[in-house]
Amino acid sequence: MTSLAIDNIGLLVTNDPASGEGPLGIARDAALVIDGERVAAIERAGVEADERIDAAGRCVIPGFVDSHTHLVFAGDRADEFAARMGGQPYAAGGIRVTTEATRAATADELTALAEARRAEALRAGITHLEIKSGYGLEVEAERRCCEVAATLTDDVTFLGAHIVPAEYEGRADDYVDLVCGEMLDACAPLCRWVDVFCEDGAFDADQSRAVLEAGRAAGLGLRVHGNQLGPGEGVRLAVELGAASVDHCTYLEDADIDALAAGKTVATFLPATDFSTRQPYPNARRAIDAGVSVAIATNCNPGSSYTTAMSFCIALAVRDMRMTAEEALQAATLGGAKALQRADLGRLSPGARANAVVLDAPSYTHLVYRPGVPLVDTAVVAGKVAAGS
Ligand code: NIG
Repeated sequence: MTSLAIDNIGLLVTNDPASGEGPLGIARDAALVIDGERVAAIERAGVEADERIDAAGRCVIPGFVDSHTHLVFAGDRADEFAARMGGQPYAAGGIRVTTEATRAATADELTALAEARRAEALRAGITHLEIKSGYGLEVEAERRCCEVAATLTDDVTFLGAHIVPAEYEGRADDYVDLVCGEMLDACAPLCRWVDVFCEDGAFDADQSRAVLEAGRAAGLGLRVHGNQLGPGEGVRLAVELGAASVDHCTYLEDADIDALAAGKTVATFLPATDFSTRQPYPNARRAIDAGVSVAIATNCNPGSSYTTAMSFCIALAVRDMRMTAEEALQAATLGGAKALQRADLGRLSPGARANAVVLDAPSYTHLVYRPGVPLVDTAVVAGKVAAGS
């Protein structure tokens, strides 16, 4: 007897070509049989189980894997957003505004804020996410952000190198020393990853390399914010150092695409950021056609992308980055799992973690076709209903 079955699925996306048709591994008129926290089998509809969710002919997809978020912060930057819509450019320095508010918040306040955002993301179908620190920017405040993040996910990223804080203005190298030393020592035990914002106005390539190498020596995997506000060295540095993912990739030059195609680093696109900062959308079509492995993530943060709506990101990727609906869905599920090097996530084949979403729609195309409509009916996390009916 199984613990849970999602039955009467009209269209099931498994992301496993061995479990169904095409690259999405599509099964029709199916049941997803779950044993404990894992997928046990894919069967014809009409199974028996201890507990049953009736999908009523609708579409079931792997839960979204959001591989880039900054959920732990206090404060609000709606005025900055409004000014941007009035023509002001986005500037990395806005991070300092959130740093001030985050430092002033208690751990309980930060936890409550992050939990509320996590719950919102779950209702949007995000069944697993990565969370970065990066708004503390001093040893104790960064450690506290990592601690809060670790209550919500096992994919915590140390981003002490988010921006040089105001008190280190003009002394960026001293701040990098702090990040690579005392701050890393305090945060690494709570983290799986280290990240750096490699960009004009944040950290240059040498500083970024120092942070990544120190993080690696502390046992962390590597992630990079690169090529967000203009062309730069971030993407190539990420590939050279074997980072799991380089995120943003808004400005990709030929050499960046060549490096990504030849390497193992996933290019993670954050289309809601380009929307919210009025940047051009990256040419995802060119990257995919060159053989680059891609993901899509929300980048939920108060400055450049205050959204947990992965379906909105998917819609932008299809509408404005020339991805197909199939590519975009896979990038937001299996792609995110690859960017986090999680073989247990992003697919619904036997043995995978049972993170699934029942859409209130007959097909995943509705994620794009019905932009802005909340289509998540039920989210299942590790074999248990976590949101919805
Ligand atoms: O991923 N690029 C750097 N960090 C965030 C933005 C943070 C902010 O503006 O507060 C990002 O876009």
